[in-house]
Amino acid sequence: MGVVRQLRQIDADAAGVDVAFRADVHAGLGQPQKAIPARWFYDATGSALFEDITALPEYYPTRSESDLLTRHAADIAAAIGKGRAVVELGSGSSTKTPLLLDAIAPAAYVPVDISGDFLRDSALTLAARFTRLPIYPVEADFTQRVTLPDEIADLPKLGFFPGSTIGNMVARTAVDLLRNWRCALGDGSLLLIGIDRIKDVATLELAYDDPAGVTAAFNLNLLERINRELGGDIPVDNFTHRAIWDDVHARIEMHLVAACAMNFTVDGQAYQMAAGETIHSENSHKYGPRDANLLLRASGWTPLATWDDVDPAFALILAEATAFRSAP
Ligand code: AVJ
Repeated sequence: MGVVRQLRQIDADAAGVDVAFRADVHAGLGQPQKAIPARWFYDATGSALFEDITALPEYYPTRSESDLLTRHAADIAAAIGKGRAVVELGSGSSTKTPLLLDAIAPAAYVPVDISGDFLRDSALTLAARFTRLPIYPVEADFTQRVTLPDEIADLPKLGFFPGSTIGNMVARTAVDLLRNWRCALGDGSLLLIGIDRIKDVATLELAYDDPAGVTAAFNLNLLERINRELGGDIPVDNFTHRAIWDDVHARIEMHLVAACAMNFTVDGQAYQMAAGETIHSENSHKYGPRDANLLLRASGWTPLATWDDVDPAFALILAEATAFRSAP
C-alpha cells in the first residue's frame, strides 16, 4: 500500500509561513514574561536537532521508552490486539513506531506531525519497511482540531502518543488535548502514551542541558527560525540556553536568556529585552504514577496497564476511552 497521500491541515500565508506561528510569536513576545509555545521548535532544522538530542547519552527518555517497547512488546500487543488503525501524535521521525507496528499488526497507520517535509520522509521510510500497511500522513498541529482520513473511519483506533510530549503542555492544556483526542478517536479506542517520571534533579537537568550543547542549539534555533520565517533581526548570539527544574510545577523549564540589553524587530514590530530577561520556550512536566493516572482519568481515559520498570524511570501507559458512568 505504502504512503497513500499526505493531508495538509496547516493555515499558511502566501510565503508559506504558518499563520499561527506568526500570531504566537507576537503574542508571546508582548507578554511581561516572554514565552513562545514549544511546538514552534519543530521546523525541519529543529526536528533534525531533536533527533540528535534523542541520541545523547544524557537524554534518557527515548532510550527508556524504546527499552519498554522492546521488552514488553508481547504484553503490549496482547493488551491492544490486532487490526487497529494507529494514529500517532507528533510522529517526528517515527523511530519508535516500528517497535509498536511489528508487535500489533495494525490495519492502518496515521502519523500526525507539524513538520511536513520531515513527516513525508519518515512516512516513506516506514512504507519501505511495512509494504502492506496503508499509511495516511497528516500534516497538522495535533493540539488543534485534526480531521482523520475517511479511510480509517470504521476501524477501531489506537492513539499512540510517545516521547512524553504530553509533558510539554500545562495541566489544563494537557487535559483539553487528551479529551479532544478521546472524542476524535471515539468510544472503545485505546491510547498508548509515554509519560516521563519525576526523578533526581541532576538527571533531569543534564537531560535538558547536555555538555555537547545540542539542546542549547535546539532552543536557540527557535530564534533563528523567527529570523528566517518572520523577517526578524534577533541577535541570536546574545542569548544563552537555560534548563532548570521547577519543583512546584514538577517540570523542567527551558528559557532563552538575554545576555545583555537589546532591541530587535520581528515583522517590523519592535521589542526590547533587559539583560537577564528570558523568553520561556518549553515546559517538560514529569509525572508520578498517581499524577499520570489522574491526568488520564480527568480526560476520560481509564488506565488499563502501566509498564515502567526501567531506569532512568519512564512510563508507558495503556488507557481506554470508556463510556461515562455515573458514580459517587
Ligand atoms: C518533545 C517531549 C520529547 O520535552 O523531553 C527535548 C522535547 N526538549 N529536549 C521533551 C525536548 C528539550 C521533548 N519531547
